[in-house]
Amino acid sequence: MADNKKLKNAKAEKNDEFYTEYNTISDEMGHYRKQFEEQVVYCNCDDPEWSNFWRYFHSNFGSLKLKKLICTHYQREAGESSYALIYEGGDDFNMEAGYTVPIQGNGDYNAGDFRSDACIELLKESTIVTTNPPFSLFREYVAQLFKHEKKFIIIGNQNAVTTKEIFPLFKENKVWYGQSLHGQRIEFRVPDDYPLLNSTNRVDEKGNKYIRINGGVRWFTNLDVKYRHDGLWHRNGEFDNTQAHYYYEGNENRYPQYDNYLAINVDATKEIPIDYEGVMGVPITWLDKYSPLEFTIIGMTASWDETSEMSQIKTSQRRRHNPLISGKEVYRRILIRNLHPVSKAEDKGY
Ligand SMILES: C[S@@+](CC[C@H](N)C(=O)[O-])C[C@H]1O[C@@H](n2cnc3c(N)ncnc32)[C@H](O)[C@@H]1O
Repeated sequence: MADNKKLKNAKAEKNDEFYTEYNTISDEMGHYRKQFEEQVVYCNCDDPEWSNFWRYFHSNFGSLKLKKLICTHYQREAGESSYALIYEGGDDFNMEAGYTVPIQGNGDYNAGDFRSDACIELLKESTIVTTNPPFSLFREYVAQLFKHEKKFIIIGNQNAVTTKEIFPLFKENKVWYGQSLHGQRIEFRVPDDYPLLNSTNRVDEKGNKYIRINGGVRWFTNLDVKYRHDGLWHRNGEFDNTQAHYYYEGNENRYPQYDNYLAINVDATKEIPIDYEGVMGVPITWLDKYSPLEFTIIGMTASWDETSEMSQIKTSQRRRHNPLISGKEVYRRILIRNLHPVSKAEDKGY
C-alpha cells in the first residue's frame, strides 16, 4: 500500500476509535423510554466488554421494559471468529449476564462487521439500533439501516449532514437530530496509544485518555423527539407568545439578498424573521431547532444539490456554490421556507 494511503487509513481508524461515555448515552436515551418498551435493541459496533451502550441497556433492561439486547464484537483480524452477546433479562446489574453466539465473517467482511451476513441476520431481528458507528463508514452504515427499515439512535459528527447521502434524509424528514446534543462540548475516551496533542485532551487518574469535542457531535435518529414538535416558536406544541420575534419588515438591511440564490441571508437561527415568506439561507446549526411543523427545507448550497427546487432558486451557474453577498462568499447554508409566516401587524408574540 502506498505510504499516504496507509497514513489515511491509519488516520481513519484512529478517528473510528472514540468510545462513548455512559452519561452521553443515558442523557439521550432517557428521552425515548416509552419507545424502548418491548423492543429488541442491537448495538452493532460494540464490544460488550467495554461498550457503555451495552452497560446502559443492560443495567436499564428491566426499567426500559426491553425484550432483548444484542451486542456484536468487531474482530479486527481477518479470518478469526467473533461473537454476539445476547441478554434477555434476569440479572440487569451483572454486565456478564447473557449468552454468547459465535459469529463468522464472510467475503471481505471480518467477523462482527456490521455489513457481514451474520450481523445482518441480527439486524433483521432487531427493532432499534443504537451505537456510535465508525466515522469513516457512517454513510454506509446509515444506508444499511434504511435498507432494512430500522429505527435507530446513533451518534456521529454533525459534518455528516453536509454530505449528499445524509442531507436529503434530513430534508425528507427521515432523519433528524436527537434531543440532547446541540452544540455542547463532550468527551470521548480514546485508545491508550492515541496521541494527545493539546489542552482539549485529558488523562484521568487511572491513565485513561479522553478527547474533548467542541460542539460538533450529534445524535442522529428517526425516533420521535420532543423538540421537533416545538422548533423555534412553539412550546408544548402551542405557539409561544412569550418570546420576542425578529421581523424582516423594517429590518431589510439586516437580511441581505444573495447574489446567486433567490434567498435572504440569516446569520443566526434565533434571528430568523417570523414574517418572511420567501426562501432564507440559515446556518447548518439551525437543524438543532428544526421542526417540520414550522419550516420546509428547500436544499443546501452545495455543488451536489441539483434538485429542481434548487435550480429554481439558484440564479448564477458560476462554479461557486457557497452563497455570495455583494460578491463576498459566506458559509454554506441550508435554504428553508417558513410554512406559516406571521406578519408584524398580526404577530401576537411578546
Ligand atoms: C467510534 S467507535 C465506538 C465504539 C462504541 N460503539 C462506543 O460508542 O464506545 C466505533 C467502533 O466500531 C468498530 N468497528 C470498526 N469497523 C467496524 C465494522 N465494519 N463493523 C462493526 N464495527 C466496526 C471499531 O472497533 C470501533 O470500536
